[in-house]
Amino acid sequence: MKKIDISTKINNIKLSSCIMNASGALCRTEKELSNLLDSSSGALVTKSCTTNLRDGNKKPRYFEWNIGSINSMGLPNLGIDFYIDFLKKKKINKPIFLSISGFSLKENYFLIKKANLISNISALEINLSCPNIVNKREIFGYNFFYVSKFLKNVFKFNKKPLGIKLPPYFNEIHIKNMASIINRYPIGFITCVNSIPNGLYVNSYTESVVISPNNGFGGIGGKIIKPFALSNVSKFFSFLRKDISIIGCGGISSGQDVFDYILCGASAVQVGTQFIKEGISIFDRLKKELKEFLKKKNYFSIKHFLGNLKKIC
Ligand code: DHB
Repeated sequence: MKKIDISTKINNIKLSSCIMNASGALCRTEKELSNLLDSSSGALVTKSCTTNLRDGNKKPRYFEWNIGSINSMGLPNLGIDFYIDFLKKKKINKPIFLSISGFSLKENYFLIKKANLISNISALEINLSCPNIVNKREIFGYNFFYVSKFLKNVFKFNKKPLGIKLPPYFNEIHIKNMASIINRYPIGFITCVNSIPNGLYVNSYTESVVISPNNGFGGIGGKIIKPFALSNVSKFFSFLRKDISIIGCGGISSGQDVFDYILCGASAVQVGTQFIKEGISIFDRLKKELKEFLKKKNYFSIKHFLGNLKKIC
């Protein structure tokens, strides 16, 4: 039987599987990171880090229901030095994406410079879309001036493959404009999308919000966001330079979901909400389901349908 190949490339980085974790999902502590290294995920993405350790927002700060999740974690992370030390001491068996989420341009440059010195880091995913900093920070990805300024400066010193994680956009013109900014720079990939910001889940019985920070408002992930995420992937695929890879993220819980993302133009996918729900065995399950689905369709490599979404004329 012909082997089904679900390997991929992100900016010339080879991944043995196109399925990895989303930043923020079970990738903060030493134990969680070790589990990811031992798993069948195609790459490891770390929790977005800052210069210093952060405890994050008050609990409860994560809630899930059947078709979605809401979170306002507040960037709990162990600080960049922890992630660097972890990666230095471990035997690395897959590409490592260090996620960085500084509070300012200056902090982002500082963190990127630090990460540039570490050979075990394959790529940097700069998070321009964290929605949950109480009273503090705008979502950088919605500030086109900020993104232009960031990209203009960062490639003056950065030597690592670098991508940006974007928030979801809801107007085609915003995606077009963001793509034309990105196309001016030697960026390796984009990850889209982060959670949909400012959602609100209500418990009708207790007549209450379900998370404590920000009066219950938070980023929405999980199955319900998949159509929005797919539209962002598909539109960016049509507007971006072809050498810029897209990592799709949002509402993946089956092999068929992975297929849909690749069909829309993603070269790889990240799994957040469903990974938190199901645990580390999800990577084996999704790989198996994706391969079975491809076999049924007579595809033997993701290259054969990547970006081939049909229109109805
Ligand atoms: C957090 C949430 C995000 O969606 C993100 O991109 C980064 C951090 C958080 O609340 O910790």
